[in-house]
Amino acid sequence: MKFKLVQQLEKREKQEAILVPFWETEGQAKEACPLKEFEKAVRPAVQSKDFKGKEGEILPLYIEGEKEKRLLLFGLGKEQKCTVESLRRAFGLAARFCHKRALKSLNIVFPKTFGKLPLNASVKGICEGLLLANYTWSLKEKKEPPSLLEEVTFIGVASKVEEIIEECKQVAEAIYFTRDLINGNADMVTPGFLVETAKRLAKQFSSLKVTALGKKEIEKEGLGLLQAVSRGSSHDPALIILQYENNPRSKEKTVLVGKGITFDTGGLNLKLSNMDTMRDDMSGGALVMGTLAAVAALGLKINVVGVIPTCENAIDAKSYKPGDVYKSYLGKTVEIGDTDAEGRLILADALAYSVKNLAPTAIVDFATLTGSIVVALGDHVAGLFSNSDKIAKGLEAASEETGELLWRMPLHAPYKEQLKSDIADLKNVGGRPGGSIKAALFLEEFVADIPWAHLDIAGTAFSNKENAYLPKNGVGYGVRLTVEFLKKIKK
Ligand code: BES
Ligand code: ZN
Ligand code: ZN
Repeated sequence: MKFKLVQQLEKREKQEAILVPFWETEGQAKEACPLKEFEKAVRPAVQSKDFKGKEGEILPLYIEGEKEKRLLLFGLGKEQKCTVESLRRAFGLAARFCHKRALKSLNIVFPKTFGKLPLNASVKGICEGLLLANYTWSLKEKKEPPSLLEEVTFIGVASKVEEIIEECKQVAEAIYFTRDLINGNADMVTPGFLVETAKRLAKQFSSLKVTALGKKEIEKEGLGLLQAVSRGSSHDPALIILQYENNPRSKEKTVLVGKGITFDTGGLNLKLSNMDTMRDDMSGGALVMGTLAAVAALGLKINVVGVIPTCENAIDAKSYKPGDVYKSYLGKTVEIGDTDAEGRLILADALAYSVKNLAPTAIVDFATLTGSIVVALGDHVAGLFSNSDKIAKGLEAASEETGELLWRMPLHAPYKEQLKSDIADLKNVGGRPGGSIKAALFLEEFVADIPWAHLDIAGTAFSNKENAYLPKNGVGYGVRLTVEFLKKIKK
């Protein structure tokens, strides 16, 4: 989507519609930006209260003799209650309104004030709402490809906001990239495809360096859990490492680890239900790649490494077996209680590998790890687990800013009892109650004493329905959150 800025209404170009925002007041809609030109059309709609200015409300009027055919009265809700998130929601709905009517270009009149919100924050909310909603998946496969907004002109906003708009665009690109990876067929988005994608990213951004351990190296290095999970698949596993080291003077190095199961059948403990969305089981990996793409595009002065263990949890005569014991990269042995608890296995090896080889000062992992977190927090809120209050607070603060919700869960140590095994150091499952906590406690065994956080995104990564400015299917949850979190790391 292209953005343009013009100061005066008269200077605007011809577009398909003009969006005029109104704040909601007690009695009737209050014009946020009075325009004499449109008064004749607007007054009856407002006075009749057919249009009240409620958040996201849109009333199309048809006008003649103007640069646009349509005048869209657009509600922003109560001005004093305006937040970045309410702007995201409202403008997301405005974008969707345009999609449905195949409107590709839009003039947007800027309100003079946004309650207590500063201009920069308001512009960010508006751009994010428009951009995040302006996405569809499988354009090619549909008979009539849905139309998207191509050009937007903001009228009456200072040009100093250009930088913010540009930044929003770059992050949105990274989110589209993440969504595309999640949405693509599991048959296409294989571990090998993820390796190729990482290499492509490193070509696009010279600040990114990629290395990938293949099947042989995984065996040789002793990543025994990643190897075990991958055995039932015809696709070779990989450990992708994307390095972005752009601040030699800083001691901080954050490692982001993302679960990259390209399809989760459950393995020999075959899933009995809900397998049809399991191509999303690499969303953590996609989030990590998308975040590195955004960080590189923005040129942040930080050091970050993305680590993505990737394989398919398939079913075959060669599949790893329940009741067997496999040795992890760290050396701890693990009894397989359930082959469907595969995410924690590949993450355990990736975490231990990161601790040993990458000298992290902090680690954050992202994984569609448990159905249990969906039961606990639903599909709008991710579960946050951490051994470090500092990292947890950093992520919570980032979440406040981006509207990507999360909730801190306890790493309640006594539950570790249930991860004990008679025949190995650990078991990969410990009964259903508190399942997401037990999964997190399992991961904690592999991070030594490095400050670490784990985000269980099983509920938030993929959605069956549109939600304000977020699309159906791959949501792209976590990219903005992580970029925001990384920006605050002290130099
Ligand atoms: N990939 C699933 C978790 C999941 C569930 C992701 C729903 C997205 C939506 C994970 O590998 C899994 O199967 N977990 C099991 C663990 C159990 C066997 C201990 C689960 O949550 O049921
Ligand atoms: Zn599973
Ligand atoms: Zn899984």
